[in-house]
Amino acid sequence: MDHTLTHRPRRLRQDRVRGLVSETSLEPSDFIAPVFVDATTDERVPIQSMPGHERVPIDESVARVEEVLETGVEAVMLFGIPESKDPDGTRAWVDDGVVQEATRRITAETDAYVITDVCLCEYTDHGHCGPLEEELRGETGHEHGPDCEHDPTLTVDNDATLEALERIAVSHAEAGADMVAPSGMMDGMVAAMRDALDREGYEHVPIMSYAAKYESAFYGPFRDAADGAPSFGDRRHYQMDPANAREALREVRLDVEQGADVLMVKPALPYLDIVASLRREFDHPIAAYNVSGEYAMLHAAAEKGWLDLEAVAHESLLSIKRAGADLILTYFAEELAERLE
Ligand code: PBG
Repeated sequence: MDHTLTHRPRRLRQDRVRGLVSETSLEPSDFIAPVFVDATTDERVPIQSMPGHERVPIDESVARVEEVLETGVEAVMLFGIPESKDPDGTRAWVDDGVVQEATRRITAETDAYVITDVCLCEYTDHGHCGPLEEELRGETGHEHGPDCEHDPTLTVDNDATLEALERIAVSHAEAGADMVAPSGMMDGMVAAMRDALDREGYEHVPIMSYAAKYESAFYGPFRDAADGAPSFGDRRHYQMDPANAREALREVRLDVEQGADVLMVKPALPYLDIVASLRREFDHPIAAYNVSGEYAMLHAAAEKGWLDLEAVAHESLLSIKRAGADLILTYFAEELAERLE
């Protein structure tokens, strides 16, 4: 060879230097572990489509969170499965509700940073994220189904839902929640919750908004886990259209104006372009939710021997962080944190 090869990127890929030039790393403190507390059971129930995860009874909630803390993960996101459901989801804001009770115990007995999911879909009998529009609130016992003659574009009553979200947020803060996370994609949800929290003296409780949450088929396993699938229709009139990226900026800007402290993108892997664009546009901490379907598909492939689970899980989370996320909600939190430590 008679010319010099000036640029040899491989020089910096040698073992002793690659750590020095590495741009991204994962820490257990980046992770938030989702925890499902179930008021309908007094035993731990494995979640079939999410290997390694279970719904735990309220009595086991402290033990479950201690398991998370032992791995080095410091924060949990609580989801509740109530003992009963009704059209308005009233069990979501009662003082003795499943999340309120679990939060009280976990914050009294552990140092975990407790974030609560603020939504109604696990609490309404129709599975939508809030009370239904007037026209749909049929006579009691009316089952909305494929044969219904209702206008399928009608689902959740936005403004009635805001009142419920205010009550839920305050009840979670009263129980000791460190942060609240509205996930219902209602217009005005952050402002409503901020006002309510401030009015009740919880101005120090931050809001992590599921700011750009897409209407995604990747939530399938979660809906089994939390028993929150809509019994009719879908969520496309409140969650975002997967086709849209500019709309995400508009959505997120509204949440920023309303006082959101942390901005979340959900799902994570199929929406890394959105994570990267939020990173460029905003100075807030960005969270990404590596959702149930993203977890389930890696497990399924690994079970068949087609992928190395630890390697693909690590690579997935590294990609999410590289795209610009500061915090990652993930069902891999515990196993990855253990491996990192
Ligand atoms: C409820 C909620 C959902 C998820 C988190 N909060 C489900 C949904 O919108 O249907 C999904 C999480 C996951 O798939 O891991 N509003």
